[in-house]
Amino acid sequence: MERIRADDGAVVGEPGPGTRIAVVTNKITVDDAMLDALPSLELVASYGVGLDHVDLDAAAARGVTVSHTPGVLDDCVADLAVGALLDVRRRISAGDRHVRSGAWTAGDPYPLGRRLSGTRVGILGLGRIGAAVARRLDAFWCEVGYHSRRRVEGSLYRYASSPLELATWADSLVVTVPGGPGTTAMVDAEVLDALGPNGYLVNVARGTVVDESALVHALKDGRIAGAALDTYLDEPYVPAALLEREDVVLLPHMGSATEETRAAMDDLLVANVEDWLRHGRARTPWVAAAP
Ligand code: 8YV
Repeated sequence: MERIRADDGAVVGEPGPGTRIAVVTNKITVDDAMLDALPSLELVASYGVGLDHVDLDAAAARGVTVSHTPGVLDDCVADLAVGALLDVRRRISAGDRHVRSGAWTAGDPYPLGRRLSGTRVGILGLGRIGAAVARRLDAFWCEVGYHSRRRVEGSLYRYASSPLELATWADSLVVTVPGGPGTTAMVDAEVLDALGPNGYLVNVARGTVVDESALVHALKDGRIAGAALDTYLDEPYVPAALLEREDVVLLPHMGSATEETRAAMDDLLVANVEDWLRHGRARTPWVAAAP
């Protein structure tokens, strides 16, 4: 692929009043203060699909376009979500620790896990990633249910009208909603209690979607059976209370972290910047969902 050259107008360096394009990851907050400091900004090109780090209303109010990298990471994030679900239910990582620590040779008992095949899995957010998770779970003969703001037209999966209804029905809850406004602490103490003492939580979305302290308490009290987390409230910091538990799988926000997907994300990010510089439009701009 032909890459942007400096004489195409791209300037790499410190952002300032003349900056037209800001390339960001989800570690960079794009808010009023940043937008005020960059009055010439035209495009925020974000690396990744989630945009909870960007104040989309503030960008729109200034006529700044926001692009992201949707579609190319769905399969890898879905693979990880199902892997994490299988891991926490069957205690795969915990089994690995059991062998490495010498506990197996010492004859220590190893606790039983719970099967995934044939169980009920509730998906919170049946968007592109949620749908990719559901397709994989079909192969495990799971019963799949979901909650989204709206029922998905034509979907054969069981619709629940609230996260609480979904958790009450499910054996495991997989969180794939995009994060951002309206999703904060969607999985709260009540939802966790509805999931119940044999229930498992998987979060590959954003840490903000789960009430982290309610989760810690639910695990401590045995009110849910376990959790597999790829995202946290204050990354890369993980609550100490989770680090010491054997019933949680802790991953370093690695949903899209494969050679193939990161290369596809790189290419799509560059395509957005190139299209902007050459044609004045982004390849994959963020588009507000219908209300
Ligand atoms: C990160 C992600 O963007 O796409 C998302 O929303 O959370 C990830 O793919 C990636 O880790 C780069 O920061």
